[in-house]
Amino acid sequence: MTSRPRLPQRLTAPPPGWTTTADVVVVGSGIAGLTAALRLRPHVERVLVVTKDVLDAGSTQWAQGGIAAALGPGDTPGQHERDTLVAGAGACDREAVRALVTEGPEAVRELIALGTVFDHTPGGELSLTREGGHLRDRIAHAGGDATGAEIQRALIAAVAAAPDIEVVEHALAVDLLLGTGGDGVRRVAGLTLHVIGEGQRDGVGAVHCRAVVLASGGLGQVFSQSTNPAVSTGDGVAVAARAGAVLRDLEFVQFHPTVMYLGPDSQGQQPLISEAVRGEGGFLLDAPPEEGGRRFMQGRHELADLAPRDVVAKAITGRMLETGQPHLWLDARHLGQAFWERRFPTILAVCREHGVDPVTELIPVAPAQHYASGGVATDLHGRSSVPGLYATGEVACSGVHGANRLASNSLLEGLVFSRRIAEVLPGELVEAVEPELDPRVPGLVAGDVRPSLQDTMTARVGVLRHADGIAQALDDLAGLAASEAAEAGTEAWETTNLLTVSTALALAAGRREETRGSHWREDFPDRDDAAMAGHVDAVLQHVDGRAGFLVSFTPAPSTDPSVQEVIA
Ligand code: SIN
Repeated sequence: MTSRPRLPQRLTAPPPGWTTTADVVVVGSGIAGLTAALRLRPHVERVLVVTKDVLDAGSTQWAQGGIAAALGPGDTPGQHERDTLVAGAGACDREAVRALVTEGPEAVRELIALGTVFDHTPGGELSLTREGGHLRDRIAHAGGDATGAEIQRALIAAVAAAPDIEVVEHALAVDLLLGTGGDGVRRVAGLTLHVIGEGQRDGVGAVHCRAVVLASGGLGQVFSQSTNPAVSTGDGVAVAARAGAVLRDLEFVQFHPTVMYLGPDSQGQQPLISEAVRGEGGFLLDAPPEEGGRRFMQGRHELADLAPRDVVAKAITGRMLETGQPHLWLDARHLGQAFWERRFPTILAVCREHGVDPVTELIPVAPAQHYASGGVATDLHGRSSVPGLYATGEVACSGVHGANRLASNSLLEGLVFSRRIAEVLPGELVEAVEPELDPRVPGLVAGDVRPSLQDTMTARVGVLRHADGIAQALDDLAGLAASEAAEAGTEAWETTNLLTVSTALALAAGRREETRGSHWREDFPDRDDAAMAGHVDAVLQHVDGRAGFLVSFTPAPSTDPSVQEVIA
């Protein structure tokens, strides 16, 4: 048990200046949020979607590679299940993975029926590619490397055609409101929001509702370099934590192996070079060929450049440390101009914008934060531990990713688990409960501590971790927690959320004393199934006006022998 930085119990915010009501509020507008809204609407009268920026500002829009599902000839959900379990390194929940892979193909077909235009072969078949960890071609893609953007477009069009789904943009979720129902159960009663709007709904307001679905995406801005957009500040995880929800396996942060290296000072969202570039024949080099560069992934793993991404990220990091270089190289020149233009138009344009022509030049690449495999702990139908609070997509830890998400399983998870939430949520709605007077003590850290927070998390809780570094990070975070924000506002709210999430993440990274999947402990270099096969849970406890995480280890169904058998 550990608890270090003293965190705010809730965010300081002005009292709500406006109030509205809904049955269900969906927080987030990527594939998970919009799927939940569309699937809920036929069964729930008033669905309100709130999104922090505009509808397409989240991570879905940026997904390049595609969406994985057993749709190709000869492929089966069983094979997809196997690859997912292997990548997850013994920390997946097998039931959740089974739901993902068996319901995945139908969910993707529905996405097509909704209007998503995927790429096809000249023969008219769905064009499927391969990425790290997949033994089959099973990644459907759109616009070459613009899959997320096409899915987002189709979903936004579907929501626009369902005028009874209300959407509020520029709405930051501040905190959940809780109340006690007639059955004596403490549950979600609503949500406070800050809206940059006009007229009646401007500033902080309250939505009274019967359930909240968190679909707010990732936490990439915890780190200095991430493929995530600026809006990914872990708000959903922090909001859920402050309401008492169990957080699970936050230490499993995925670092994408091939993110374009833009120099030592480049911060924030960095350009992703999709694994699909390696899927189509690109390969990694530890130096340019004329300087004796080698294809160093060969011989390290049977899948070489297409090994699961934790393996490739570790190999790149290890080689960077050995050679003292800040990046390595991706060679995909042999794909040729025409192929690049057709298959990877987005990546081609971004590389050229940054002065590298991948048709004739090597692309400098290094690992950067990409995906949170952990998050708000949920069951097979997206229920969190707080009655009335559901979570789906990257904000959730449904158990499908384990210690390392298999490439292109993220869009699929949002799709499948939002459908599963919509199956049960309408039947679980209870009468609206009155929000209680909030006993939590408010607080806020200063927005300008964000770069220091990102520096310490990147240096000490990044790709390579060690007990001493993690302890130092927690000390640094404790220092940052003592800073007080002069006034409430987006910068301070987001930074306080980042601090809350970073604290849970660092504590979880310290608790998991082994190396597994994307969690790499230099002081515990081996996987330890005997002691550590299970989940690290974190729950915020409120003491003396502040809050601290209680971190515990839970042996989990994922440790069941059948999973171990598959991945052995
Ligand atoms: C990629 O295209 O390499 C990223 C896909 C993913 O994160 O699943």
